[in-house]
Amino acid sequence: MDTPAALIDTVKMQRNLERMQQRADSLGVQLRPHVKTHKCAQVVAAQIAAGARGITVSTLKEAEYFFAQGIHDILYAVGMAPHKLPQALALRRQGCGLTLITDSLAGAQAIVDFGREQGETFAVMIEIDCDGHRSGVKPQDPALLEIARVLGDSLVGVLTHAGESYGLDTPEALQAIAELERARCVEAAERIRAAGMRCEQVSVGSTPTALSAVSLEGVTELRAGVYAFFDLVMHNIGVCGTDELALSVLTTVIGHQPEKGWIITDAGWMAMSRDRGTQTQKRDFGYGQVCDEAGELIDGLLLSSANQEHGVARFQGHEVEVVAQFPLGTRLRILPNHACATGAQFGSYHAVLESGDVEVWERLRGW
Ligand SMILES: Cc1ncc(COP(=O)(O)O)c(C=O)c1O
Repeated sequence: MDTPAALIDTVKMQRNLERMQQRADSLGVQLRPHVKTHKCAQVVAAQIAAGARGITVSTLKEAEYFFAQGIHDILYAVGMAPHKLPQALALRRQGCGLTLITDSLAGAQAIVDFGREQGETFAVMIEIDCDGHRSGVKPQDPALLEIARVLGDSLVGVLTHAGESYGLDTPEALQAIAELERARCVEAAERIRAAGMRCEQVSVGSTPTALSAVSLEGVTELRAGVYAFFDLVMHNIGVCGTDELALSVLTTVIGHQPEKGWIITDAGWMAMSRDRGTQTQKRDFGYGQVCDEAGELIDGLLLSSANQEHGVARFQGHEVEVVAQFPLGTRLRILPNHACATGAQFGSYHAVLESGDVEVWERLRGW
């Protein structure tokens, strides 16, 4: 196998999929995985086989790709840009059960107007802002009911994503934000219903909140994405161990600077991505945690800096004979900060099966 390569440990991945599915089942909600993490047909198939119903996507290209693979129930969970409506229409005309989201009157109006012109009733959810993190309309905002009225028959539900959860790292804080995510989204749905309108679906989720929620009363579905692979950011948040990370980058030692204790690898930032998500967390993993070829963590060895196609791995706090211990040609694996960003650097994964066999799994890229 050439390096750098994106490896999926399918045994770990399968455990991660089952763990999240069991949570959704025990909380009494449907799991609609966000496939933006992996953008890979084989991983989606494993998620569906584990019990997921429908998928969430971050681009219409993903919607087209996974619809062509036979997935019909697709939520495009990024605010709908009016110029993309013809692309969404084409998918619906082919029989895709595509749902769109919006958080504004202008957005709702554009969808409804275009639908009227084309004789199509789009399915739309209103995006709710539960934590001030990103987009969405506040549940108490008068605009919520105005947007709902404009959508009329197109309105199928409300959705929120507690992005502020990524900045937390205690079980108490995570439980509190999971409850906030649930309560705000349910509140929005109840306001819409109290005004005499239909609001069937209540969709919440991120990996940290999904794994921390105590109750999802009033919620119909959970969306989580990065749980399929997990990563060092999720480890620092406290929702997984390093032994649960299913994605790693296989790299080769290409040189040394012995006096500095440096091991040079052929995985730089082009392989790992520029994502330094752990930099602002309680433990900074540099560009990644280094493991041996079998995936066993090498204590204290981090990819401490990266150029485009060079990585510099260095032990933190102690000296090691790097040339003797990691000779030229040694293979290592690096656990990434952010699985979605690292995966996106590769056109395909090398999936390591339980038998030890390796399959190449295509990964979708671009928009
Ligand atoms: C709208 C939406 N839903 C769900 C998710 C999944 O979150 P996570 O990857 O933490 O599981 C994301 C992630 O960014 C998102 O933007």
